[in-house]
Amino acid sequence: MVQISLFAFGFVLAIFSLSCSTVFADTVETSFHVRNLTTNRLCQNQVIPAANDSIPGPALTVKEGDTVIVHVFNESPYNLTIHWHGVFQRLTQWADGPEFVTQCPISPGGNYTYRFNLTGQEGTLWWHAHSQWLRATVYGSLIIRPRDGQNYPFSQPDLEDTIMLGEWWNADPNDVENAALANGSAPAAADAYTINGWPGDLFNSCISNNTYKLDVVPGQTLLLRIINAALNTQFFFKIANHNLTVVAVDASYTNPFQTDVVLVGPGQTTDVLVTANQSPGLYYMAAHPYASAVVVPFNTNTTTAILAYPNATQTTPILPDLPAFNDTPTAFTFSSNLTALVTSRFWSAVPQIVDENMFITFGLGLSSCGANQTCGGLFRERMSASMNNRSFVLPTGISLLEAFYRNVSGVYTEDFPDQPPSVFDYTNMNNSFDPNLLMTPKSTSLKRLRFNSTVQIVLQNTALLGVENHPMHLHGFNFYVLAQGFGNYDPANDTSRFNLINPQERNTLGVPVGGWAVIRFRANNPGVWFIHCHLEVHLPWGLGTAFLVENGGTPESTLPPPPADFPQC
Ligand code: C2O
Repeated sequence: MVQISLFAFGFVLAIFSLSCSTVFADTVETSFHVRNLTTNRLCQNQVIPAANDSIPGPALTVKEGDTVIVHVFNESPYNLTIHWHGVFQRLTQWADGPEFVTQCPISPGGNYTYRFNLTGQEGTLWWHAHSQWLRATVYGSLIIRPRDGQNYPFSQPDLEDTIMLGEWWNADPNDVENAALANGSAPAAADAYTINGWPGDLFNSCISNNTYKLDVVPGQTLLLRIINAALNTQFFFKIANHNLTVVAVDASYTNPFQTDVVLVGPGQTTDVLVTANQSPGLYYMAAHPYASAVVVPFNTNTTTAILAYPNATQTTPILPDLPAFNDTPTAFTFSSNLTALVTSRFWSAVPQIVDENMFITFGLGLSSCGANQTCGGLFRERMSASMNNRSFVLPTGISLLEAFYRNVSGVYTEDFPDQPPSVFDYTNMNNSFDPNLLMTPKSTSLKRLRFNSTVQIVLQNTALLGVENHPMHLHGFNFYVLAQGFGNYDPANDTSRFNLINPQERNTLGVPVGGWAVIRFRANNPGVWFIHCHLEVHLPWGLGTAFLVENGGTPESTLPPPPADFPQC
């Protein structure tokens, strides 16, 4: 008997050490020094903040299961935080990063170490500053490859590369934001769009090396990870003469989707496979705006990079034909036809029972400029935005997460409503300028959720001051996209259109212009999680709120205390 159990014990030990070696995960440790950099992108020297003196900042390439430790040193003149866009942050909620939501900013001269683990997440994510407009220049990729012994759910590509789309101002980005906020108007449009930090050949940049170039070998397959790091611009992306197969979005695998154009909104990522099957030559990879808001002025130029075959003889690369700026049918075809790869190791089935049903109207509005004052917004008021007509204001002396953790009262309220305050014809343009609907009261109103409750949200765009596609981003979770459409959501007809089998999973969804989307998620991550429009222009206007997710009663479902170096306000 004793012998048998000793044998069994030895067997268990052997299995244990075997599994230790096959599930071996690394710790990836690095430092970001964020400081002012003088650089030239459009014919003038410009001082901007950057991480480790580069735009994009350092690429983090890790494996699923790894632990990441990033020491952030704020050597810039601004308050700073870093957000790991799309990382769930289970038990590391204090490392999520949005300023005044999970943490007070790292003040100039200060530092903070972000530590988190990437188990159960695989694909293309990214990181960016989450304080004022610093993310215009402080951003980089976060690529999570399969752990050792695991493969992609598609044939192994010969080559991988990352395309980060961005925006550039010939100004300090925070100055652009501050100028707009000071008079209540919309901020200036970008002076250029960029691919991996470079505007490309179609922008006059006065410097010779302003275009990113990627060399390919004929016949090889390339995995291209496209990330939209722009503040305010959604992009159509194409490669001249090459077809694309989408295999993942927002670090969630999809069924292969064939297309020649990708739509990617700020915050979103799209992984595509491309085969170098064209005659040897030079082909532009190009992006220009999908601009769904008709009246908002924007830069109409195109940013380019070059896909280069060896021994190309031509001197001018071939330019793809991008869709028209307002080509909503193409945008909708792309974003509504993606489905999840349910055979992926990370898929979990859609919860069929809904505990919390929310209907949230959201969009633009106005707030008062003040008695006898004139602002730069419409009707001389201040531009604003809201969800269920509550225009979100961040606290200043403490983060929401710390207030939640320490039970500090007076920082926020828990009365965010499940329904809009008034029912109207939300997407009817005749209501766009109805003064009774435009004013948005300011508050810090949040919604509390029981641990593990299932939440369904109808995100209903309004036509107030105009219609626009808003990329809505939820921190701390992926959500399932059950359905999307135009006009007002109609429960009688639209419920039958829900995809409950293989809906795409995302952390950011462009809710159709003048339309709606239905999302669902399971609140299995305690903490305070921001949900907001990832068009940076709308964030200080108030287009956001946050979920307070309660603890679940086990150590793995309980918010831990903040780390020792947690920044104080
Ligand atoms: Cu990528 Cu709250 O943001």
